[in-house]
Amino acid sequence: MTSMLCFRSIHLIFDRLLLLAVMPLTLFAAAPCASASSFFTNRPELFHNGGTGPCDGCHLVKGTSANRGATDDSASASFELIGSDPSSTCLRCHQAPAGGGQSMDHYIASNPADLAGGSPPRQLTPGGDFGWLKKNYRWSGNGDKGESLGERHGHNIVAIDFNYGADATLSMSPGGTYPSSALSCISCHDPHGVYRRSADGAIGTSGPPAISSGSYKSSPDPDVASTVGSYRLLAGKEYRLKHFPGGSPFTADPPAAVAPDNYNRGESVTDTRVAYGSGMSEWCGNCHALIHNNNYPNTRIHPSGNGAKLSMSVTANYNFYIASGNLSGSSSSSYTSMVPFEMGTDDYRELKEAANSNGSDKRGPSGNANVMCLSCHRAHASGWDSITRSNERAEFLVYNGRYPGIDNGAPSGIAQGRTEAEVRKTFYDRPAALYASYQRSLCNKCHAKD
Ligand code: HEC
Ligand code: HEC
Ligand code: HEC
Ligand code: HEC
Ligand code: HEC
Ligand code: HEC
Repeated sequence: MTSMLCFRSIHLIFDRLLLLAVMPLTLFAAAPCASASSFFTNRPELFHNGGTGPCDGCHLVKGTSANRGATDDSASASFELIGSDPSSTCLRCHQAPAGGGQSMDHYIASNPADLAGGSPPRQLTPGGDFGWLKKNYRWSGNGDKGESLGERHGHNIVAIDFNYGADATLSMSPGGTYPSSALSCISCHDPHGVYRRSADGAIGTSGPPAISSGSYKSSPDPDVASTVGSYRLLAGKEYRLKHFPGGSPFTADPPAAVAPDNYNRGESVTDTRVAYGSGMSEWCGNCHALIHNNNYPNTRIHPSGNGAKLSMSVTANYNFYIASGNLSGSSSSSYTSMVPFEMGTDDYRELKEAANSNGSDKRGPSGNANVMCLSCHRAHASGWDSITRSNERAEFLVYNGRYPGIDNGAPSGIAQGRTEAEVRKTFYDRPAALYASYQRSLCNKCHAKD
């Protein structure tokens, strides 16, 4: 353990020295208009670009005072963050402006000005809108009383400039020991994008620098002279936070996955299909290792991971199931992003072929597919408790042909405090008519019980 620690810190110091040494030459030369303010206007499409973004997008670097008025030399000589904490730094660019729709793909949190009672968060990325953390629901009537607090709806990232606080109920990651007080964007994403994928698919922290994001269908393929960023800049083996040195380092690398280029959008006509390949559950296991363990006090232990292959009957259910009572589907069109699966591969050619948001590939699972954490959960946030993709707490997802809302006469125990519009957003704007008039849980996509 001690030797691992030493190795890690030496490695990091080396990385930083290297960064500092090459930064003025390469980064600034490659990106002449690299100040944070110019990114908002000039080149919003490229910031991290799969690796370390321009330092002054996140740090108050000596000599740049644009972001915080006059800077005095002694303070600016440090790499102080622009926001009050890491997540607040990220949200400066990643929270949508007031009134913002899904115009920018990388918005992953709605503006609080758009989250008045009954109005749903608007960002529709695969990870989900952190704005759901600000939505508290309480209901009572017909002998039914309940609540669904905002903090249950996602990973509670601490971002004090944006009024996101630590989870007040769960003090650690269930099934693991990651403290909720240290949870931020950089708990999961490496802010310096150091983890990179090389031509053989291996993830590492050394070798040629990333030439681009590796997350997209259109991302270049790495070759002998180049690498691309890990999926979504997710951190891998041995990662740990600087300001939280007590935590145990990650033991699993980022998953193999590919997102379509256009990924923050309503799915009323076609799905946003991220091609998940393998390793997502193992990666979540960096903080939730024991969630599968039968000793963990969870009422719903479920198989999940590279080894949790869909049996032939589960594969058949997925391919035939359309809605409650409707098993007339076919494997060529059965895919739904409400219940994604891993394809059981790390072959990026296959993954790039499958990823799309225009309906070009709607195939369901075959042969090697497996169930994973994101078959049931979203990574950031959702409208439901335990970050599930759809409501696992009510008998019906659709009631009398409509998404159940407090504004359309659905029983309070089914609407559970939400408006119809809010529920529709949790289905990423799909019409309720895609489902049965009295649609039950989407566990049935794989189990076809009703
Ligand atoms: C996307 C935002 C972002 C960008 C861009 C960025 N940093 Fe950082 N940096 C951070 C955050 C957040 C931390 C705090 C890390 C922690 O606590 O683990 C940090 C910490 C650091 C540290 C101190 C801790 C460490 O990791 O050794 C150094 C040095 C540093 N950054 C240098 C740089 C340099 C040099 C660049 C430009 C080449 C850069 N950073 C670009 C967000 C960023
Ligand atoms: C100066 C604005 C800015 C800041 C600050 C910023 N981002 Fe980004 N981020 C962007 C833009 C623009 C994109 C889309 C283009 C790209 O990936 O370079 C993006 C994309 C991303 C992606 C997807 C990248 C991929 O390759 O799939 C992740 C993940 C991400 N940001 C995380 C973070 C985290 C974590 C922080 C804080 C440590 C942060 N960002 C801070 C502007 C910013
Ligand atoms: C618990 C881990 C975790 C935390 C905390 C987290 N992310 Fe992510 N993020 C992920 C994963 C996993 C994905 C990939 C989701 C997918 O493809 O289904 C992702 C995806 C993204 C994307 C791509 C768009 C999307 O939603 O799919 C961006 C941008 C991003 N994250 C930024 C951030 C920022 C900014 C923060 C902090 C405000 C943050 N993330 C906090 C794990 C995390
Ligand atoms: C860096 C550590 C870390 C990683 C990686 C991580 N989580 Fe978490 N997770 C936490 C912490 C801490 C909590 C408890 C605090 C909270 O819920 O905000 C938590 C809570 C949860 C919850 C319960 C939410 C609630 O409030 O009931 C779910 C579900 C969850 N995580 C799923 C996932 C999935 C799925 C992944 C992989 C995509 C993942 N986590 C990756 C740290 C992590
Ligand atoms: C088949 C669907 C399914 C899969 C797969 C799944 N979960 Fe869950 N998970 C649920 C449901 C439903 C709940 C809420 C009900 C419950 O706690 O029993 C839940 C609850 C949780 C919680 C909250 C537990 C608590 O004590 O509050 C965490 C954390 C979590 N899951 C993490 C994960 C991780 C990590 C994975 C992948 C290794 C995963 N889940 C795979 C369906 C699933
Ligand atoms: C992506 C497909 C998928 C989804 C969605 C899914 N399951 Fe499963 N489930 C499986 C697979 C695969 C198995 C392993 C057994 C098999 O293949 O028949 C399984 C097994 C089970 C088992 C038996 C567990 C055991 O240890 O034998 C139960 C109970 C179960 N699932 C409940 C649920 C519930 C509840 C949900 C919704 C929250 C759900 N499943 C959603 C794929 C899925």
